[in-house]
Amino acid sequence: MANWDYEKDINYNAIDLEKVKENYFLLHLLTIASFIEITSETYAKNLSEYYKDNAEAVQWLNDSWQKEEVQHGKALKAYIEHVWPQFPWQKAYEKFLELYKPLCNIYAFQPTKALEMLARMIVETGTSTMYRTLKGYAKSLDEPILEHLSHNIYKDEVNHYSYFDQYFKYYNQSEKLGRIKTLKAIIRRLKKINSEDIKIGYQSLHETKYNDTLKLISYEIFQKELHKQTKKHYPYSMGIKMTMQPLNLNKTFEIAAIPIIRGAIKVLEFR
Ligand SMILES: [Fe+2]
Ligand SMILES: [Fe+2]
Repeated sequence: MANWDYEKDINYNAIDLEKVKENYFLLHLLTIASFIEITSETYAKNLSEYYKDNAEAVQWLNDSWQKEEVQHGKALKAYIEHVWPQFPWQKAYEKFLELYKPLCNIYAFQPTKALEMLARMIVETGTSTMYRTLKGYAKSLDEPILEHLSHNIYKDEVNHYSYFDQYFKYYNQSEKLGRIKTLKAIIRRLKKINSEDIKIGYQSLHETKYNDTLKLISYEIFQKELHKQTKKHYPYSMGIKMTMQPLNLNKTFEIAAIPIIRGAIKVLEFR
């Protein structure tokens, strides 16, 4: 279980509301992230089923991974409730579930156990780098509580990555995927991380009725701002390093692979 507690360790009362309460881009971003994180339960269930032969992995998935992902969602929700108490989070989340659940149920696993662990590594690369980006953005807003919160989540995501890495190596001992196959799987998974989740999160936020003190922004403006902030704060070298690690390359190959990964990594979003 995580070594921090979203209720005890984050001082929501110390948030300087003036700095963030009119930042509606931030409201959208945190809401969408909180929806996706809090819904991690479904993924944990599906994964536990897929790896049921591996008691240790199943235990980690249920006792640590899932609980930590859900805590990320709860922490973001607590932050939202503090800054925008008029926002009906629960109501919007119900809308989100209605739109999102059918997609979760058709989640297709990779054809082998090593490949699925590899896919999870890519997802955790996405989340690690996304919360590092959020940390940089919080710093630029001069909002230390959000910076602290995103730092804690970022650390957890990097830790998840190393667990999936360890399991990937374990299964790959028998599957022996070569570098080409591994690289192809990485690119395939990078391409699959599309903006569908974000779109649904955005949609559910907008289809909920509010009292009109909240100003919602259009999808185009949201995306434009997301792109701008990502460009400014995304930790590219960290993203590239994490994406390439499963390839286990020597220096010469590593340099050759960087442009391919750099191109593919542009599509990394969150979750
Ligand atoms: Fe998370
Ligand atoms: Fe994670």
